Amino acid sequence: TDPALIRNFCIIAHIDHGKSTLADRILQLTGVVEDRQMRAQYLDRMDIERERGITIKSQAVRLPYKAVDDATYVLNLIDTPGHVDFSYEVSRSLAACEGAVLLVDAAQGIEAQTLANLYMAIENDLAIIPVLNKIDLPAAQPEKYAAELAGIIGCDPSDVLKVSAKTGIGVDDLLNEIVAKIPHPVGDPDAPARAMIFDSVYDTYRGVVTYVRVVDGELTTRERIQMMSSKATHEMLEIGVSSPEPTKVAGLGVGEVGYLITGVKDVRQSRVGDTVTSAAKPAAEILSGYRDPKPMVFSGLYPMDGTDYPVLRDALEKLQLNDAALVFEPETSVALGFGFRCGFLGLLHLEITRARLEREFNLDLISTAPNVVYQVVMEDGTEYTVTNPSEYPEGKIEEVREPIVRGTVLSPAEFVGPIMELCQGRRGTLLGMDYLSEDRVEMRYTLPLAEIVFDFFDQLKSRTRGYASLDYEPQGEQVADLVKVDILLQGEAVDAFSAIVHKEKSYAYGVEMTKKLRELIPRQQYEVPVQAAIGARVIARENIRAIRKDVLSKCYGGDISRKRKLLEKQKEGKKKMKMVGRVEVPQEAFISALSAD
Ligand code: GTP
Repeated sequence: TDPALIRNFCIIAHIDHGKSTLADRILQLTGVVEDRQMRAQYLDRMDIERERGITIKSQAVRLPYKAVDDATYVLNLIDTPGHVDFSYEVSRSLAACEGAVLLVDAAQGIEAQTLANLYMAIENDLAIIPVLNKIDLPAAQPEKYAAELAGIIGCDPSDVLKVSAKTGIGVDDLLNEIVAKIPHPVGDPDAPARAMIFDSVYDTYRGVVTYVRVVDGELTTRERIQMMSSKATHEMLEIGVSSPEPTKVAGLGVGEVGYLITGVKDVRQSRVGDTVTSAAKPAAEILSGYRDPKPMVFSGLYPMDGTDYPVLRDALEKLQLNDAALVFEPETSVALGFGFRCGFLGLLHLEITRARLEREFNLDLISTAPNVVYQVVMEDGTEYTVTNPSEYPEGKIEEVREPIVRGTVLSPAEFVGPIMELCQGRRGTLLGMDYLSEDRVEMRYTLPLAEIVFDFFDQLKSRTRGYASLDYEPQGEQVADLVKVDILLQGEAVDAFSAIVHKEKSYAYGVEMTKKLRELIPRQQYEVPVQAAIGARVIARENIRAIRKDVLSKCYGGDISRKRKLLEKQKEGKKKMKMVGRVEVPQEAFISALSAD
C-alpha cells in the first residue's frame, strides 16, 4: 500500500469509557465484520478480559475505508491496554501510530490514567483527535467536558467530536477526521527493513504471533529475520494482517502493520519494543524505546493443596509463554509449604495472573501480601536486593532504599482534603496541584510504591465515593527508615507474615497482626503467645488462651445426628490445619490474615 493512504491510530480511553464498543462500531462501519457476525467486543479475545471488561493485550486490525474524498484508505487500529500496570505496552503501541483518538465518557470526564496516556501520546508527537462518547446518555454533559478537553490539549471546544459508540452517531465523521488530521507514515522504502514489535502473543496452534509496525524497508516471507536486541535470528513462516481474521500477505512495507509468525517458541524471544530486521541485510540502528519489563511487585503464590504444586509450576510456565513480564522462582515457606515467589508489573497484573491461574488451571491459591523490591546496604558495603521480606538480611544495616513513584490523582475538587490526608498518611509529598476546570483538580505526588500496593486504590475510591482516579509511574528510589517486623507463634517466626514497613508504622502493623491472629487461631491445648518483633525486640503481644476443646458439651439433649454432624465438621476442619511448630493453624487463618482488610 502507498504510505500516503495509510493511517495508523490508536484509541486512548479509560476503562468503561467505550473503547471496545467504538472499535465494534468501526469494524461494522468499514464492513470488515458483517452485522450478523458481530458480537460485542469483537477484539477482546481472552475470556477473562471480556468478563472483567478490561483489555490486556493490544492487537491491531486493518480496515479499508472509503473517505469523503472517494479514495480508499487503510486504517490500522492499534488497540492499547488501558491500565497503569501495562503502561510500557501502551507506550509501544503509541509508538506504532501517528495519531490517537482520545475517547472520553461525556458523563464522566477525563480520568488520571487517560491523562497519563494522553501526555505520553503528545510526547510521541501524535496527532490527537479529542472525542466525547456516550452523548446519547441523559447524564452526558458534552459542553462542560468539551471545554475541559479543549483546555487540556489546547484546542477549541468546537473541535471536540461528539459520538455515541452505542448508536453509531458521529462515528463516520470520526473516521473522516482520522483520515484528514492524522499524518500518513513516512519511512525509507529502500533502507534495510526495520519494524517495531508492539505486541507478542502466544497462540497454542500458531506459536508466537508477533505484531509489528514497519518503519523502513520491507519484510517478506522469503527471508530470515533478526531480533536486534538479542541478535537472534529466526525463520519467517508467515506474514499477515488482521482484517480482523488473520490473512496471509506476501510482505509488509513502510508504515504497514501486521503480524509475523516465526520459529519463536515463547514471547520472551520476541519482546515488545524490540526491532525486527532482515537477517541477510540487517539495519545498523535499533529503533529507540526498547526496555526490559521490570517486575515491581512481588508476592508468594502457594497452592492450598500441597499436591497441586507441580500443576502450579506448569501453569506458571504456560502463562509465561504469553507474558514476558511475569517472573517466578520456587520458594518454601514454613507456614505455607512449597510455592513460588512471583514478580509482577503492578497490582492489577498480580490480580489478573492469580485469577487466570485459578480459573484456567483450576487451582486454589494463597498469596502473601504483595511487597516491593528493597535494596539493603550493610555497614560492610555488601548490598542485597530483597524481593521477599523473610530474606531481609540480619546484621548491621547502613541503609535501605525503596522504590518511589510519581502519582497523579484526578478528582472532583470537593475531595481535595481527604485525598491529601490519605497521601500524607502514605508518606507522600505533594509536588503540585492544578485545576483542570472549576470543579476538577489534578494533584501530583511522590509516593513510596510500597504504600500504593497496600490497598491505596480501595482507600482512594472509598474516600472519594469512587470519583478519584490514580495513575503512577516509577521515579527511582529513596532511602527510607524501614524495618522488618516478624510475627511469632510460640516464639517461632511465621515467614508468610513478615513484612518490611516504615519504622513509624511498625508498631501499628504488629498490633494489628497479633490481634487478627489471636482471633483467627482457635484455642489450643496450651497457651500460645502471638508476638510481633523487630529483630529480638518484641513490640506487641497477644495470648491465645488454652482450653480443652470439647465441642460436644455445647449440645444439650441427646440429638445424636447433630452430634455426629459436629464431629464430622471438626474432622474436616482438622484436615485443613497446618502445623507451625507445635501450633495448629487453620488454613483459613492464613488466608484471612493475609487479605488486606
Ligand atoms: P475496556 O474494554 O474495559 O477498556 O472498556 P471499554 O472502554 O472498551 O468500554 P466498553 O466498550 O466495554 O463500554 C463500557 C460500557 O459502556 C458498556 O456497558 C457499553 O455498552 C457502554 N457504552 C459504550 N459506548 C456507549 C455509548 O455511546 N452510549 C452508551 N449509552 N453506552 C455506551
